[in-house]
Amino acid sequence: MPVTTYANHKGGVGKTDEVEGHAAALAMQGRRVLVVDLDPQGNLSRRMGYQEHELESRPTIAEAIRDHSPKALRASFLPCQWEPTWADNITLVPSRIELEERISEAGVPLSWQRLHKCLAPLAAEFDDVLIDTPPTIGHLLHLALVASDHVVGVTTPTYDAVRGIYRLKSFIENPDQRQGLGLRCQMIGIVINMKRSQVINHEQRTESLIAKFGDLVWTPHLPLRASIEDASERAEPPQNAGIEVRQIFDSRVGNYLKAVAA
Ligand SMILES: Nc1ncnc2c1ncn2[C@@H]1O[C@H](COP(=O)(O)OP(=O)(O)OP(=O)(O)O)[C@@H](O)[C@H]1O
Ligand SMILES: [Mg+2]
Repeated sequence: MPVTTYANHKGGVGKTDEVEGHAAALAMQGRRVLVVDLDPQGNLSRRMGYQEHELESRPTIAEAIRDHSPKALRASFLPCQWEPTWADNITLVPSRIELEERISEAGVPLSWQRLHKCLAPLAAEFDDVLIDTPPTIGHLLHLALVASDHVVGVTTPTYDAVRGIYRLKSFIENPDQRQGLGLRCQMIGIVINMKRSQVINHEQRTESLIAKFGDLVWTPHLPLRASIEDASERAEPPQNAGIEVRQIFDSRVGNYLKAVAA
């Protein structure tokens, strides 16, 4: 059961959108996908059909991590609310703002292993686990990375977002962090989102990412499209933005499947 974290040390670059698109494309292939919303903003949970008030007084990822309990994780499971074509094989671990409370527990020895302990016993039940993360390199990202085999960096072709990818990659590769946290994950891909055509900055950033990271940068790039934002607003998968977007996610999932099989 490959576990993959989607991350950048930069907000608003399309991490959650990417998790949604990958989950939908994998589920369409009949794979059983568990998506974990590890962001206290709860954007993924909302976009998969659950408003914040609907998640009050029910288990979420916050309790599962607090108790480092697979049982509590299972108790939080919810079906994705998209139309069945996309949603049939997707199970959501939702998030609420209470997840913020886990951050202050970062100093407790081995606290960073709590998500891994929750997920490990589920290996026979899912084909893929995708983790959406907040735009920080703190305890919540540590929890995700410790539980993960793979990392996909999500970026826009802009200066600050690309810097965020550099920081993320050097964090993952730092020998002290790898040893201290017990990381085993590797970066398998970098995806470029919200690319505008004929914008010189975007072309230059894209070229410099490819020059630096080569094949790690997956193509094609996802263009900036109002229809993608509209799909998020309506709590629908990005694939509902049209055939072009659908093909891009199918292609990215092809890269993902190749990487996780290697
Ligand atoms: N290719 C795109 N074209 C247009 N809008 C997009 C595209 N991709 C994502 N968006 C929109 O941009 C906004 C930010 O995307 P998203 O929430 O996925 O980013 P994020 O990196 O998860 O943000 P955060 O760091 O806050 O979690 C959302 O409103 C989303 O619908
Ligand atoms: Mg997000």
